[in-house]
Amino acid sequence: MINAMTLALYHDMVTEFTNHLQKVQNNMLKCWHDPVEFSLNSFFGFTEFAHTSVSQLAHHHTDAFTSYFNPEPARSGTLNRKTGRRIETNRVAVVTGGIGGIGTEICKRLFNDGNQVVATFIAIEAEHAGTWQKKHRKEGYAIDIIECNVTDFSSCKKMSRQLEKEYGRVDILVNCAGITRDFTLRNMEIEHWHAVLDTNLDSVFNVTRNFINHMIKQGYGRIINISSVNGQKGQFGQTNYSAAKAGMIGFTKSLALELADNGITVNTVCPGYVGTSMVEAIPEHIKNNIIAKIPVGRLAKPAEIADAVAFLAAENSSYITGSEISINGGLYMG
Ligand code: CAA
Repeated sequence: MINAMTLALYHDMVTEFTNHLQKVQNNMLKCWHDPVEFSLNSFFGFTEFAHTSVSQLAHHHTDAFTSYFNPEPARSGTLNRKTGRRIETNRVAVVTGGIGGIGTEICKRLFNDGNQVVATFIAIEAEHAGTWQKKHRKEGYAIDIIECNVTDFSSCKKMSRQLEKEYGRVDILVNCAGITRDFTLRNMEIEHWHAVLDTNLDSVFNVTRNFINHMIKQGYGRIINISSVNGQKGQFGQTNYSAAKAGMIGFTKSLALELADNGITVNTVCPGYVGTSMVEAIPEHIKNNIIAKIPVGRLAKPAEIADAVAFLAAENSSYITGSEISINGGLYMG
């Protein structure tokens, strides 16, 4: 039945459609000499609008004006006042090493994307973890923390059981815990080797092994392993670190094959040199030499790594699995 409200609605839509056509026409002229830009901007902008208009018209022919104005039912959750984004709390993310330099940005980003986020910390960091949590809660990030020693299988088992009990589900796992003990091999002690292999590689087995049955049962999961450019290319003084980080890449590809038909993706992110305390600890002259070799000419920002993690953690990334995403400013392109 056509009434005044319907007519007003048609009028608004026609006006909007005409405006958009005008914009597309302007865009076509502007981009005439750039076919790539033209294709991406104009075509996708137009089809997105056309799709919206058609589905809006379809809705319009029902009497459901409420659902017309809100085609997506509101999901449960609260609004993050700081970012203006809705916190939907329907996915739970665990970030090992979540209170570290890159881990913190990953936690914040996943939280902003509407996930309930839990950061793990080790016992000796308990005080720092408490302060970290308070600081972020004050800033609007309601991130939970849980103690877990990622080098210890039983500690990981306890942590995973506790989280599954408390939240009912765990959807996203980011293996981000990592350390360096940089020495040339001739100066490397066995403790340096084991410390790095245990924390950076065995941890990935310990944590992931304890979550996958749960993810298989729920038919959904996103596992993201934070490796390194130095696992891809090797680095002077990092036989231990490079071996562990290269191991993560192999682990990712094998597990991706095993879980591909369970709705679970497994991917690796390979950051280059990021502005964190780990990189700050490199002797100044060596660090400057490294930065001089980065084509982009600077260290990465932790948020630039978090963006890639969030991309892989999203529901829409369901067709990306076993991949290795490099974020290194061009330092390595192999
Ligand atoms: N390539 C070739 N030779 C090198 C070299 C390099 N990159 N760096 C040093 N050397 C040479 C030196 O010139 C020196 O030669 P001489 O003996 O002829 O003078 C020799 O190697 C020094 O050897 P030492 O075993 O004595 O090394 P050292 O104790 O002085 O320092 C080191 C070794 C601690 C590993 C130091 O090189 C270092 O800190 N390197 C940086 C390693 C690094 O990049 N770490 C990254 C940390 S951040 C991170 O890992 C995050 C991430 O994912 C990217």
